[in-house]
Amino acid sequence: MSVKASMQMTEGFLWGCATAAHQVEGDSVDDWSLWEEGVGRIYQDQRSGAACEWWRGRFAEDFDRAATMRNNAQRISVAWSRIEPTEGQFDEAALGRYREMLLALHERGMKPMVTLHHFTNPIWFADRGGWQADDAPSLFVRYARRVVESLGDLCALWCTINEPMVLATQGYLFGYWTPGIKRLKAAAQVAANLLRAHAAAYHAIKAVQPNSQVGYAHHHLGIQPKAPAFWNRFAAQAADQLMNNAFNDAFLTGVFKLPFSQPVTVASAKGALDWLGVQYYQERLATFNPLKLGNAIGTQKPPGVPVGPDDWGGIVPENLFKVIERLYKRYGKPIYVTESGVPDPDDTLRPRYLAESVRAIWRALGFNYPVQGYFFWSLLDNFEWAEGYDPRFSFGLFRTNFETQARTQRMSAVLYREICAHNGISAEIIAQYVPDLLPKLFPGAPGAPQVRLKERF
Ligand code: GAL
Repeated sequence: MSVKASMQMTEGFLWGCATAAHQVEGDSVDDWSLWEEGVGRIYQDQRSGAACEWWRGRFAEDFDRAATMRNNAQRISVAWSRIEPTEGQFDEAALGRYREMLLALHERGMKPMVTLHHFTNPIWFADRGGWQADDAPSLFVRYARRVVESLGDLCALWCTINEPMVLATQGYLFGYWTPGIKRLKAAAQVAANLLRAHAAAYHAIKAVQPNSQVGYAHHHLGIQPKAPAFWNRFAAQAADQLMNNAFNDAFLTGVFKLPFSQPVTVASAKGALDWLGVQYYQERLATFNPLKLGNAIGTQKPPGVPVGPDDWGGIVPENLFKVIERLYKRYGKPIYVTESGVPDPDDTLRPRYLAESVRAIWRALGFNYPVQGYFFWSLLDNFEWAEGYDPRFSFGLFRTNFETQARTQRMSAVLYREICAHNGISAEIIAQYVPDLLPKLFPGAPGAPQVRLKERF
């Protein structure tokens, strides 16, 4: 008897890639394009510039690439700065352009998931106080409603805000991103407003489009205390509460509680979620240094696992299972993996990363955790925020040559096509594309080294 082992997803599972407007569209005029003009903020002082030229029309050829990979879904974002370039004035041409994109996805058999806010803001919004302003949530909701009224016939799966805690901490606590503020109080205020904005947008979207499915994209940071000091445990708990729990817990309690901050009641957040998006990239070790006044909690790379460039942490894709388990047990909502990927220009880590992530999801489905789809970050190399076009931060299944706009397929793109076509992984796929993983994923498969019983006991 020959066994053909296979780890397949449920029928109707969504397979796709994720991108964000500012990172691929090019010709953006928003708070980030202004920020990029400053010196020392972006790798080699680069600008997003033409990016991947999606706004000039290249989205169509890249959607062809996604379709060739047998993707049946795609997560894109729309830019508030294009849709409402002046306060209160909506640009029908920009909405029309996004209609074209959504139609292009449907024509290629891909179900769209649309993110309404992926880090960037219109300049007028930033000028009047950005996410610190009291009326920021209501301004966001007016925009969100308008988008759903215009595009709701082409999309029913909405992601309100991408990684609110990353936006709040990078921009307002660490000051790496626009607007470059470094105050916990400011970050807390912004995070609370992002929560209010999400909650209000959730209710507004459901009112306009009752059959819609509305969620948001949560960045899950793997955090462990650096052993052995006990105070590192305290640091890990604080970092975990800040990045992983506070925002999500508000959906259960209606109360938003960041570490070292007063609880804030956001009653409208309670239950305001149809699904939870998880974006899991890296593991970090938390440390506590009492000598660093005001900056005592830090993180560092864990030892013994592959790590990314610069301060990118440990790359442990199999942990995606634990992350899904934890989120489902705590929040009980259907889950989409809205981003998952690895900075890896030479495609040495990505095939393994991809296969192990898929296996982690299959395990989760085997526990009946309702994972509905997987969106790989990213379809092609793009503008990686403060890392700009630093080649070490290449996330694409396709390589982008930013001088010629040529795209080249990485081996992982071929592997992803096999995975999507098979609705999972099989021993044959692993043997062909990631043979090193065969003993771990399919130890009984021909070609996987056999461990004899007596050697085991
Ligand atoms: C996510 C973010 C994406 C992308 C990715 C890779 O946090 O949502 O925009 O930059 O990380 O770093």
